[in-house]
Amino acid sequence: REGGLLDRFGRVARDLRVSVIDKCNLRCTYCMPAEGLPWMPQQQLMTGEEIARIVRVAVRQLGAEELRLTGGEPLVRKDLEDVIGRIRADHPDLPIAMTTNAVGLDRRAQALKDAGLTRLNASLDTLHPETFAELTRRPHLDKVLAGLDAAQAAGLGPIKINAVLLRGINDTEVVPLVDWAVTHGYEMRFIEDMPLDGDRSWTETQVVPAREIRGALEDVFDLSPDPRGRGAAPAERWEVRRRGHSTLAGHVGIISSVTEPFCAACTRTRVTADGRIRSCLFSHEETDLLTALRDGASDEGLAQIWRDAMWRKPRAHGSDRVGLARADFVQPERTMSAIGG
Ligand code: GTP
Ligand code: 5AD
Ligand code: SF4
Repeated sequence: REGGLLDRFGRVARDLRVSVIDKCNLRCTYCMPAEGLPWMPQQQLMTGEEIARIVRVAVRQLGAEELRLTGGEPLVRKDLEDVIGRIRADHPDLPIAMTTNAVGLDRRAQALKDAGLTRLNASLDTLHPETFAELTRRPHLDKVLAGLDAAQAAGLGPIKINAVLLRGINDTEVVPLVDWAVTHGYEMRFIEDMPLDGDRSWTETQVVPAREIRGALEDVFDLSPDPRGRGAAPAERWEVRRRGHSTLAGHVGIISSVTEPFCAACTRTRVTADGRIRSCLFSHEETDLLTALRDGASDEGLAQIWRDAMWRKPRAHGSDRVGLARADFVQPERTMSAIGG
C-alpha cells in the first residue's frame, strides 16, 4: 500500500491526534482513578524532536491535514511551547489544535500562541466550584476560568468547551453551560460518557443520552442544524437561538459516541505519548512506532508501519461491532488519559 492512511472499510485518516504526556493535574472520575495511574517512565515518552519527526511523516508521507495535541494534560509538559515551535517550523500552514483542561493556561496562553498553536478545546464540565471539585477531585475551577480568559485574550480561537455529562452530577447544567458559553463566545459541546475510565466502573445508566441533551436544550432554545455541517467531526452541531428570537445566540455540539456512534465517518489516527499508533479509541491492538524510529527507520519505513496499522482499524467499537453497552464489549487496557481522548 502506498499513499495515505486507508483502512479496510474505505475510511482515510487525515486527522492526527498525538498525546504528548499521560500525566494530568486533575483526576476526573470518568477518566482517572483518584490515586492516578502508573505514569510512563520518562525515557518511554517521545521527546519534542521525536514528536516533530512523527508529525513530519504523517503530514509529508501520509497526508495528515490537521494535528491535535492531547494528554493526559498537555500543559503538564514543561517543553510544550518548544514541541509546538518545532512542529510549526516544519509546517507553516498546518492547523495545530490542543485539547486541555486549561489549568495553568493563564500563564502560558500567549507563549503557546506565539509558538504556533492555532486553537484549543478545553474541558469544563460544571460551573459550580463544589461540583468541579467532586468531579475532578481538585479545587481548580478558578484556574480553569482564568486559563480560558487568557486563551481568548491571546487569540487562540475559536475555543470549544467540552463537558462530559454524568447523571446526577452535572446533568442539570446543560442550559447554564450554554448560556455561559454563548456569553463568552465559546462553542459548547456535550459529550456522552464513554467506557474508558480508570476505575472501570462505567455503566450505561450514568450516560446522559444525546436525545435527552437535545430535549433539555429545546426547552429553552430553538435548535437548527448547523449549515456548515459536521464533516468528519464527532460532534453533531446545532445553531441555537433563544426561543422567540431570530438572532443567532451561538453553536452547540453533541458528541454521542455511545447512543449514536459515528465510527463510519471517522478520519482519526492516534499516537500515544510513548509512540504507539492506535487506530481507534477502542482498539485492543497498538503498533509501536517509537521503537522503529529509535532504531533508525526511514521516513518511508515509518510511514509503511503506520499504513499497516491503520489498515487493521476496527469497523466500530467493541472490535467489529457497534455497541459500547453490549455485554460482550471489552474495555481496552489503556484508559482515556493514556490514549489522549
Ligand atoms: P474538533 O476538531 O474541535 O471537533 O475536535 P474533537 O472533538 O475531535 O476533539 P476533542 O479532543 O475536543 O474531543 C472531544 C470528545 O470527542 C472527547 O470525548 C473525545 O474522546 C471524543 N472523540 C474524539 N475523537 C473520537 C473518536 O474517534 N471516536 C469517538 N467515539 N470519540 C471521539
Ligand atoms: N468519555 C468521554 N469523554 C471523555 N473525556 C475524558 N474521559 C472521557 C470519557 N470517559 C474527554 C475529556 C476531554 C476529551 C479529551 O475527552 O473531557 O474533553
Ligand atoms: Fe485529566 Fe482530561 Fe482525564 Fe480529566 S479527562 S483527568 S482533565 S486527562
